[in-house]
Amino acid sequence: MSTSRRSALQFGGLSLLGAAAVGVPVGNAVRAKAAGTLGKKDIPPRYTRPLPILSPLAPAGTKTLTGPGGSYSVPRYDIVEKESSARISPRFDTRMWTYNGIFPGPMISVDRGQEAVMRVRNQLPAVHPLFGYEFSTSTHLHGSASLPQYDGYANDLTPPGFYKDYVYPNAQNARTIWYHDHRVHWTANSAYTGLAAPYIIHDEFEKSVLPQGKYDVTLVVNDCILDAQGQLMLLDNSHSGLWGDIVMVNGMPWPYLEVEPRVYRFRILVASIGRSYRWTLSNGAPLHVVGTDGGLVPTTQSVTSFRHGMAERYEVLVDFRGQAGKTIELRNLSNKNNVDYDHTNKVLQFRVGSTVTSTENNTIPTTLFDTNEVMTLKRSDATKKRYFRLHKELDVWVINGETWDEVSGSNFRHVQADPGLGDVEVWTIENKGGGWFHPTHIHLVDFQILSRNGKPPMAHERGPKDVVYVGEGESVDLLMKFGPHRGRYMMHCHNLSHEDHDMMTQFSVGMPKDWTWDDNDPVAADPCKWDDLD
Ligand code: C2O
Ligand code: CU
Ligand code: CU
Repeated sequence: MSTSRRSALQFGGLSLLGAAAVGVPVGNAVRAKAAGTLGKKDIPPRYTRPLPILSPLAPAGTKTLTGPGGSYSVPRYDIVEKESSARISPRFDTRMWTYNGIFPGPMISVDRGQEAVMRVRNQLPAVHPLFGYEFSTSTHLHGSASLPQYDGYANDLTPPGFYKDYVYPNAQNARTIWYHDHRVHWTANSAYTGLAAPYIIHDEFEKSVLPQGKYDVTLVVNDCILDAQGQLMLLDNSHSGLWGDIVMVNGMPWPYLEVEPRVYRFRILVASIGRSYRWTLSNGAPLHVVGTDGGLVPTTQSVTSFRHGMAERYEVLVDFRGQAGKTIELRNLSNKNNVDYDHTNKVLQFRVGSTVTSTENNTIPTTLFDTNEVMTLKRSDATKKRYFRLHKELDVWVINGETWDEVSGSNFRHVQADPGLGDVEVWTIENKGGGWFHPTHIHLVDFQILSRNGKPPMAHERGPKDVVYVGEGESVDLLMKFGPHRGRYMMHCHNLSHEDHDMMTQFSVGMPKDWTWDDNDPVAADPCKWDDLD
């Protein structure tokens, strides 16, 4: 192990909780009163404020790109990273450092095939006001097959006063994705204090079968801890995980939503740093899973509860037909290796009205046209098997015994896997135990979960994925095809405290063995520029 690794993990179980917490184990998860030092009367009320509905950001202009066929113009979305504040607890303005002054950041919604540019201007303070690190950023569009130089590579930094134009192909099938900060070693801090936002790709098929418009609701779920002045606290139990006592949806603690008695589509994104959820409806009705990270599932999976880890996205249909006048809650049953508090089982309340204004796509389809190639692949298509073990070595989180140090120490050449362009492989990812779960994310590709502990995957995860929940004692086999780009891409745990300390590595696609030049160098190919835009 290299000497530059910071040694900070000091305990081996969920025994250390937040400042004010006294833990008592209940079932699988640990249960405590409160995480932060916020006064009791300042704890946000449940179900009294409405859910903020996210509306798509309009392009600010265009940008001219040059391709093999000449130059052409694409829409340009402008994002300014800047300080702002939010009313999480009613009496306080909580300082945050956000995209365009809001949390979650502005939702971007595009149609498949419409390439676009996202211009990210860093107007943040020179150092993070809460944590003191140099406030550079790197923006990753999670779920997009972007070129390496536009993939938010951890070391491709845009310092305050600079901007970077990210080019997004949007060539993939309809899906719910998101953009968030990926700055090396400080991703958890930057995402937690505001740099996270949803992004949606629509396509014709999805529009023809699933609810649209006001019946298609994006839910960004995360949790946080506040101090006595209502300011964010990042207590991550020596980098094991952050479990907040306040659960927010679209930046609002425990909101309510008025719905019509019809079918709704909810795109649920867990943007939490360390908490996973297990959803259920208070009336016992099923959640109909129609989409996973990489788009629609081949067959609708109706379940009464399901496990949802950090960075995973699930699209569910909820049928409010026949429920007029009722109040129904989306609740969190929690999972093993989380820390729960008094109100972390509550999430969102639905108040069902009595009139339906549109019956378009007001059904629960049973089969969905399979638009993602990865779901048609078979285990026998794979030409190679690789193995990745997630564990803790002394006091550092590692993948096959390595951290990002091995990558940065090699001038970003070192890789743990080197598939060729178009190769199909099976990757086994294993978490032998120890009290942790690791939602593992592989950049660039979508994968199919072939098996979980030698058995078929859980019902809700039978669709295209880019994050896989690897719980304590679990082992998963993933099937994927590498492409469409060549280059180097990250792979890491999406418990962001683990990722930062230092459960992250990389792989390459289609790179010759002893390459000397990389057209798609993730740091050098298209770096940030000094921001003298007006
Ligand atoms: Cu959502 Cu590499 O991250
Ligand atoms: Cu990603
Ligand atoms: Cu992890």
